[in-house]
Amino acid sequence: MLKKIFPKKGEVILAPLAGYTHSAFRRLCKNLGADRTYSELVYAYGLTLRGFEKNKELIYFTKKELPFHLQLYGRNPKEISEAAAYLLENFPDITAIDINFGCSVKKVLKAKAGSYILKDLNLFYEIIKETNEVVKSFNKLLSIKIRLGFDKDILEKLLEKALKADCRVVAVHGRLATQGFSGKANWDRLKKAKEIFKDEIFLIGSGDIKSYEEIDAHFEKYNVDAIMIGRAALKNPWIFKEYKEKRKINVSLKEKLEFIKKELELMLEYMKKDKAYKVIKAQISQILRGERNRKAICEPLLRAKSYEELINLLNKSILENS
Ligand SMILES: Cc1cc2nc3c(=O)[nH]c(=O)nc-3n(C[C@H](O)[C@H](O)[C@H](O)COP(=O)(O)O)c2cc1C
Repeated sequence: MLKKIFPKKGEVILAPLAGYTHSAFRRLCKNLGADRTYSELVYAYGLTLRGFEKNKELIYFTKKELPFHLQLYGRNPKEISEAAAYLLENFPDITAIDINFGCSVKKVLKAKAGSYILKDLNLFYEIIKETNEVVKSFNKLLSIKIRLGFDKDILEKLLEKALKADCRVVAVHGRLATQGFSGKANWDRLKKAKEIFKDEIFLIGSGDIKSYEEIDAHFEKYNVDAIMIGRAALKNPWIFKEYKEKRKINVSLKEKLEFIKKELELMLEYMKKDKAYKVIKAQISQILRGERNRKAICEPLLRAKSYEELINLLNKSILENS
């Protein structure tokens, strides 16, 4: 059973991106060739306390996004394992539960969760072990997402603990938490870790990949098992298709606008109109980056004051650019 849901070597995965990788975006990226998708981080305690309806926008998914990892964060092993049980009981299609040990935004660090836990190897181990027991009882997969360390690089120690807790799928964003997004992701460290742990850990590399050519080059040079694409997919969701087809795809403005319109329409399955038209604006800014008339096209869309207004503007722009 586990063999069937275990990731395969060479997968190119849509990274979890808070505020962006909700169900609609995941589905569209999956259509374009992403091999696997992750939800954004979901607060474990909030989930068990407030239930599905209150967290619907975060945890809603469809079969079209499978294989799908639902990512939890928290500090308490019991809370995370209980949230995992709640999810797997209610949503048996989830492929895997992922635990976030990489986030370094203020809100998460204040809760001493996410990458903060990389400071405490024992707690890191306990969370993985306890959650993995639950996840395994449902015949599902547990994965984790980490950085090289909090303020010092302890990657091998973290991987040892994950292995000890029998968690074998690990995504590594090759920076320290204290680095945020500054500097460059250190893929040499991933290569070294892979040499040490060989096939005991399925290592997913994350950080700074911008083009389909770089995906190939990173597989070749650093020997990771799979690669995650984050920010580059926001600007160019076609990167997955480019990688599959080994060619640059020139996406027209019309296609980009249609992508946004489709995403916005799909969002209504789990988000109210009043919120959806606001949330999509971040994606609009990303996908239209680099367009020749960006300002003229983007600004009216970003100024829209309702779902209907935004859809009308999108329809108008699509027609004008046909
Ligand atoms: C806006 C934004 C939101 C993110 N949200 C999450 C998240 O919810 N969970 C997580 O594990 N990583 C999150 N990350 C980290 C990414 O998954 C990824 O590891 C990181 O951006 C490096 O990859 P990239 O250079 O391909 O973007 C986020 C990154 C960004 C830029």
